[in-house]
This record gives sequence, C-alpha cells and structure tokens, in this order.
Amino acid sequence: MSNRGNFSSRIGFILAAAGSAVGLGNIWRFPFLAGTNGGAGFLFIYLICIATLCVPVMIGEIAIGRRALSDAYGSYNKLGGGKWGYLGLYGILAGVFILSYYNVVAGWAFGYFIEISFGNLLNHQDFGSFFGEYVNQIGPLFLFSLGFMVMTAVIVSQGIAKGIEAANKIMMPGLYLILIGIIIYSLTLPNAGAGVNFYLVPQLNEITSKTIFYALCQAFFSLSLGMGCLITYGSYVTKDQNIVKSAAIISIADTSVAFLAGLMVFPLVFSLGAEPGQGPKLIFVILTQAFQQMGPLTGRIVGGAFFLLICFAALTSTISLLEVPVAFLVDQKKLPRKVVVWSMSGIIFLLGLPSMFSQGIVPFLNKLPIHNTPDMLSLISDLCDIALVSGGCLMTIFIRNRWKIENLHEELSIGNPGYMGSWLKSYIHYTIMYICPVLLGIMSVLVITDKFFGLEWLWG
Ligand code: PFF
Repeated sequence: MSNRGNFSSRIGFILAAAGSAVGLGNIWRFPFLAGTNGGAGFLFIYLICIATLCVPVMIGEIAIGRRALSDAYGSYNKLGGGKWGYLGLYGILAGVFILSYYNVVAGWAFGYFIEISFGNLLNHQDFGSFFGEYVNQIGPLFLFSLGFMVMTAVIVSQGIAKGIEAANKIMMPGLYLILIGIIIYSLTLPNAGAGVNFYLVPQLNEITSKTIFYALCQAFFSLSLGMGCLITYGSYVTKDQNIVKSAAIISIADTSVAFLAGLMVFPLVFSLGAEPGQGPKLIFVILTQAFQQMGPLTGRIVGGAFFLLICFAALTSTISLLEVPVAFLVDQKKLPRKVVVWSMSGIIFLLGLPSMFSQGIVPFLNKLPIHNTPDMLSLISDLCDIALVSGGCLMTIFIRNRWKIENLHEELSIGNPGYMGSWLKSYIHYTIMYICPVLLGIMSVLVITDKFFGLEWLWG
C-alpha cells in the first residue's frame, strides 16, 4: 500500500475529499439550478437526496477503495471479478468527460478573476451581454482553460497528498469567510427578504419531476459520487480512519457551501430586480453587478478575492477528476505517473474544445437537435449526470449482490469500534440494500427519458 501514496492524516483525506466535492458545482451550478427549478423546493429535495441516497453511496465508495487499495477499475475487478471492472471503467470515462467541460467553465472563472483584478470588468453596463460576448472570445478562453489544465496537471503529477492537501488548507476557510462576508452584505440590500423567501420557504406545489431529477443529479455531482473518484481517494485512506464519520464531515462541508452560495445569490438577485432562472450565467451576471455596486476599489478587491477562491475550489475538484484516470493507468498499465498525467491532460483538454466552442461561436454546436439540450456543453453535462446516478445505482447493486453487505459492514467497523452495534449500521444496511438500488434505478431510467424525450407529461 505504501508505494501508492497515502494521505498523511485523517484531516488530509477529509480536506482532499471535501476539496473534490466543493467546487464549481456548489458555487456556480447549485444556485443556477435552484434558480431555474423552484428555489426552496429544489433545496428541500436536494437535502433529502443527500441524506437518504448520497451519504450511503459515498460511504460505499470510500469503503470499496480502502478495501481494494486500487483505482476505480482495479477495485471493482479485485472485489468483484468477472465483468465488474467495466463498472469502474464507466466511471473513469464519466470523469474524463466531466473534466473536459468543467475545465472550460473553470476557464471562465479564471478569466473573470483576471478581468476583475485588472480593473477591466466592473466598468461595464450590461453584465448579461458582457458574459455572452466573453464566453465567445476564443483566444483568451483557450489560454485560460489551458492554463487551468496545466495547473491541474502540475499538482497531480506531484502525487497525492502534497499538492492537494496543501491547497485545501487555505482554500476552504477562505471560501467560507468570503461567502459569509458577501451574504451579510447582500442581506442588507433592499428587497433581500424576497430572495430569502424564494430560497428558504418551499412551495410544495411547485415541486415537479424536473425539480427532483435536477436535485438528485446535482447532489451526485456536488459530492463527486458515482464515478469512482471517492473509490480512488478511498484507496489512499489508512485503516485507522473512521469512514462513516469522514463521509459525514465531507457531506456537511459540501452541503453547507452550496447552501451558503444560494443564500448569497438569491437576496442579490431579488434586490437587483433580476431573474433567478437565467441559467449558467447567473452568478457571473449577478455577482459582478453586486461587486460594481460596492464601489470601484472595494468591488475590485472583493470580486477579485471571490473569483480567486472559486478558482481554488475548482482546482481541487479538477485535481480529483484527473486523479481518477491517472490512478487507473498508473495502477493497471504500470505507466509512469508524469507521462500519464501530461498525456491525459492533453487529451481531456482537446475533448473539451467542442464545449468551449459551443457558446455561439460555432453555431452547429449551439443548436443540437436534442430535447432541452441546446448546446454541446449542456449535452456532455447531461450525459455525465446520467452516468453518475446510474453509476451510483450499479455501485450499490455491486455491494448488495456481489461484494456482499457483510464485507461493507466489516470494512466500516475498522477504525470505528462502536459501528457494529450502532443505528448507523442499520441506516447503511437498509439504504444500500434496498433504498438506493431501487430509487436510483428508477431515477436513472426517468432521468434518461426526461433528458432525451421530455417527461413533462408525467408530472409537470
Ligand atoms: N464535486 C465537484 C463540484 O461540485 O464542483 C465536481 C466533481 C468533482 C464531480 C469530482 C465529480 C468528481 F469526481
């Protein structure tokens, strides 16, 4: 085990896994999905998904990785044999495609950091059209995304622990501080209460099938589940660590950042008289407007710090995404780590180009003939969401039918002496044996049907 590298401490693992979880998903994707899907109703369903479906899946993945001490493919192969390794490959492939478009959005955030810090951003009038033009400036965006991929590759090539642990120790507290600072500011603005209402008071009759689909997919995405990321990180976890407790801390850290991001965005949206359902550009438009209102110097400092922290958060996620295929190729094909890191980064960057060009500059990539999916970036993101939820479902079926639940319980009791007699054991037992496979299986089928054919006829 030692030659694969380990996290140096319990806190090191928790920080790295929380760093993987906290990213653009929390600060960029969660608010815009909540904004388009009913606000408080979305938050309500999201929290239910985390508690009933996601935490058990997270625990299962970490346990599989720690037991098998291998990458996603190797772990399924070792514990399950037969064709189970393909389930690992399915996740690895999903991770590759997530990283391809994630890196493009990280390039947008990186670009905003540069623009705001150099004082070029806040003197604009219409931030909606600025965003539209910005994401079509291929030259700078190409460079920013490439820069982001290079930073990711440099850190991953150093091996686990070093770069990842260090980056997280600064990023996480900084992120909380700036979120809370902007929340306090936003709550003092006129009409902020309407935003708080929209975000925190659920109208149950506004919850539709779409609210549930998007909330579930977002919960999987946000916690980095269903694609072997936590199997890979779990394989670097030592036996003295309490997996259940770590999973609880990681989930709380991730969910609290998403929650705070919503609490920051919606009072601003309502006090600026903006539209909550404006999609992926939401935070880029709303926050720049808020920074502008803070005045030239304060806006530049707070805005610069904000986008810098988002870049850090995104970086700790891209690191974990790249680590998944890298660990596979290093473990299974015995290739040198550095060669694998740089070649995978190059391939993934190229795979992301259609997403980068899909915001208008190449018209064909922006008008795909697929239900509800206007552009290439959204299509890849939708396909990956499906892969995560179905991957999570198959993971629980793997534990239930192949590896066996007793082995999971045994692994979870290592580093956690009181586990066997606790209520947590029953919770994990019933969720993994029955609730997750059944509900995630049904949801996978419904989400696939909805994304490609539409399910409005079912329930709004
Ligand atoms: N959880 C990350 C976010 O919310 O930004 C995205 C992500 C990272 C998804 C790693 C999947 C993954 F394996």
